[in-house]
Amino acid sequence: MPGGAVVLGTTDTSRIEAPVTVKTYLMCVFASFGGIFFGYDTGWMSGVLGMPFFINMYTNMPYPADHPDAAHLPASYALPAWEKSLMTSILSAGTFFGALIAGDIADMVGRRPTIITGCIIFAVGCILEVAPRHALAAFVIGRLVAGVGVGFISAIIILYMSEIAPKKVRGALVSGYQFCITIGILLANCVVFATQNRLDTGSYRIPIAVQFLWALILGIGLLFLPESPRYYVRKGHIDLATTALARVRDQPADSDYVQDELAEIIANLEFERAHIPETGYVESWLVCFRGSIYDGSSNLRRTIVGTGLQCAQQFTGINFIFYFGTSFFQTLGTISNPFFISLITTLVNVLSTPASFYMVERFGRRRILIVGGSCMVICQFIVAIVGTATPHAQVPGGAPSAVKAEIAFICLNIAAFASTWGPAAWVVVGELFPLPIRSRGVAMSTASNWFWNCIIAVITPYFVSTDEADLGAKVFFIWGSTAIFSTLFAYFLVSETKGLSLEQVDQMLIETTPRTSAGWTPTKTWAAQEGHVHEKTEPEEGEKAV
Ligand code: BGC
Repeated sequence: MPGGAVVLGTTDTSRIEAPVTVKTYLMCVFASFGGIFFGYDTGWMSGVLGMPFFINMYTNMPYPADHPDAAHLPASYALPAWEKSLMTSILSAGTFFGALIAGDIADMVGRRPTIITGCIIFAVGCILEVAPRHALAAFVIGRLVAGVGVGFISAIIILYMSEIAPKKVRGALVSGYQFCITIGILLANCVVFATQNRLDTGSYRIPIAVQFLWALILGIGLLFLPESPRYYVRKGHIDLATTALARVRDQPADSDYVQDELAEIIANLEFERAHIPETGYVESWLVCFRGSIYDGSSNLRRTIVGTGLQCAQQFTGINFIFYFGTSFFQTLGTISNPFFISLITTLVNVLSTPASFYMVERFGRRRILIVGGSCMVICQFIVAIVGTATPHAQVPGGAPSAVKAEIAFICLNIAAFASTWGPAAWVVVGELFPLPIRSRGVAMSTASNWFWNCIIAVITPYFVSTDEADLGAKVFFIWGSTAIFSTLFAYFLVSETKGLSLEQVDQMLIETTPRTSAGWTPTKTWAAQEGHVHEKTEPEEGEKAV
């Protein structure tokens, strides 16, 4: 047993976690605030790239005489494509490496210090972005550094939340993280809108500087939250794990609930370590790829499912709308104000996400991924078919009902994503991995999200640019097809994890296949299996619940 301590547990599978209290909810709700970084940092760049002052600063082109405002700049008044691409994609490079490094650090020093370090790195990146004026190198390096910070935060918040959230509401709480991503994107749009026409450095410095606030709130707030008890168990610090678990469950340290849950975590870790021992640093990475691809519980299979699921989330095509929706809606010829367009898409995204809080726990992760993916396939094919059948609709003044139908189905598509794939992909990734490889698994999966996010951002302009493939609405045939891949991925590879503790998920993956997983219920505890049980089953006086 880690640390040599003996913690006895229960044989009763329903007693391995304390009832949920308001305090336990609030801790996770606060941690989900980390999603704001993710959303805000991806949200402000495209607006800043279209600001007259920012373009003038980097190109020295005089302001256009008639319309110096951002909404009406002529197409020629823009940064060169390579600068836009560099400034946008360098963030993903930073986040990719940040997420990977963070997995290691989270196992070395703990989840909380890693997230706080991420906030500090992020703040340094922001300083580099805003401090020098007209210095491309500093701006790009700043964006890379800020990206590393976002990578730290986006990977380890998921890990931390999954490890401290009570099993009954873990899906809903992790969905709160996705909700914060959507709010971050919306806030970024609003701040950029407010400053876009300023003809001074405030135009871009204000949106960037606002981010310090997120870093301060998350970094300082986390100082008051407990470390993940599962991290302490992994390190063999059972006393610290007991104190941390008592805090996150809002129970006295000697409560049966705390002791029983701790016994489960320890017994599960013993089992995992006995099966796949890890001996050194390199080995600790290699174990993530051990086992058979055909065994649903092998580390290799879980790594494939986690990284593949995040790839599949990007393959739903959602970021086409968030990154290039403005220009696509403009080609439809009905709405001319780009801010209004992104406001519609980001608002639909924000307002549809809370439905997932209910759905992810009521219907389960697997089912909403399959149903949500199918809805996205249908919506995107409808947009593609309507757009292809009525090409004249895209000329201003032509076929307005076809255009309205396209806009309506694009919005439905966003709503389908926001209530299913958006949150559920993160929820599953946080639940999938056993403790010995959890931080690395979540880190690799998050890195995969950023990797595919970047690939899509880089290749999509070639699909839609008028001087390249010029696909117009036909591009939705591509996203509809990739969304079929995502849906099939969920059907064949994602198991149902709702309502189970992270240790029960481990057991479920051993005993079922993805398609039979939804009907599985735990029959024995890990403590019973590993022979560490006590006799008591009744709750003690003083144990609380809401
Ligand atoms: C995705 C992002 C996307 C965002 C939209 C996230 O879950 O990972 O790529 O931009 O949702 O809300």
